[in-house]
Amino acid sequence: MTYYSQLVGTGSSFPERIVTNFDLEKFVDTSDEWIRTRTGIESRRFVDPSRGESTVSLSEAASRRALQMAGMQASEIGAIIVGTVTPDTVMPNTANQIQALLGAGQAPSFDLQAACSGFLYGLTLADSLIRTGQVASALVIGAETLSSLINWKDRGTCVLFGDGAGAVVLKRTEDRTHSVIATKIYSDGRYGHILNIPHGFSKVPPHSAEYRSDMHKIKMIGSEIFKMAVRNMVEASEVILKENGFSVSDVDHFVFHQANLRIIDMCMKTLGVPAEKVSNNLNKYGNTSAATLPVCLDEAIRAGTVKKGNLVLLTTFGGGITWGSALLRI
Ligand code: ACO
Repeated sequence: MTYYSQLVGTGSSFPERIVTNFDLEKFVDTSDEWIRTRTGIESRRFVDPSRGESTVSLSEAASRRALQMAGMQASEIGAIIVGTVTPDTVMPNTANQIQALLGAGQAPSFDLQAACSGFLYGLTLADSLIRTGQVASALVIGAETLSSLINWKDRGTCVLFGDGAGAVVLKRTEDRTHSVIATKIYSDGRYGHILNIPHGFSKVPPHSAEYRSDMHKIKMIGSEIFKMAVRNMVEASEVILKENGFSVSDVDHFVFHQANLRIIDMCMKTLGVPAEKVSNNLNKYGNTSAATLPVCLDEAIRAGTVKKGNLVLLTTFGGGITWGSALLRI
């Protein structure tokens, strides 16, 4: 028997609090004009922990929506994988907590840390678990509360990020027509230093003499990230299409990692992708790291922009550095 994974549900969730560029102008040396023209971002959402908002709560809400679309009970979930760099707690991991909240039996559940590529890495693992017959379904989540890692003294990064979660449900099928056709993930640890969080973990723990709270925040060499993101996302898109016998014009819809509109524009230009085939929402949410792909896909499906039978290409790039693409027929 040959198994494939079919996408049967998507969902997303955001905190209530909207923070606009104009709000940031009040306490950061920046302007709405600079942020909009350099990044495409107009606002972002931040959690309010006093309201109980967190990576787990956003993940739970996104998962419930995805399960509802799939018409599935939590007890039917075969595995839960969460891509995140901002778990509420390291132990239990986010996925363990989602399993308990949803009531997903004793399904294996774990977090996966591949920065902005966490969801795509998770999708790859879930697809593999289904194809090898280990599980009959999987819930894959990308969720972040990056607001906890923002250095408000660094205007080059603090305006970029937001909080949110997206989830998809994959189900085993023998029908290849509507399935994940391929995924391809990459990393290159030699470039870890261009986007990192140097302190706060076992190398420089919070109780050590060297620890600095400003180093327990996102640090980035923006111009390097920019160039690599374009080059690697373009290459990953070209490779996955070629290896599976497709060309750019065969793809009905493209979802690029939502980090910067100029990065996406350059990818589109290099690949030759027309604007009507691309979903973007970073104007509303900023860069939500592992959450951007499932959120964008969810919004496109719910808006009817992505329909049954469409060929969809997802492409991402993130810290590590990590990147990759997935090709699926909805
Ligand atoms: N407001 C106003 N001015 C600013 C701000 C700000 N928020 N940030 C930087 N500037 C200033 C700089 O100080 C600099 O001023 P100067 O010329 O007087 O020295 C000027 O703007 C230009 O700074 P650059 O860093 O060269 O600006 P650039 O055009 O490269 O844009 C940006 C910076 C938006 C970060 C860009 O490099 C970028 O998008 N890089 C990609 C990184 C990214 O998106 N990372 C997200 C995480 S990784 C991922 O998800 C892929």
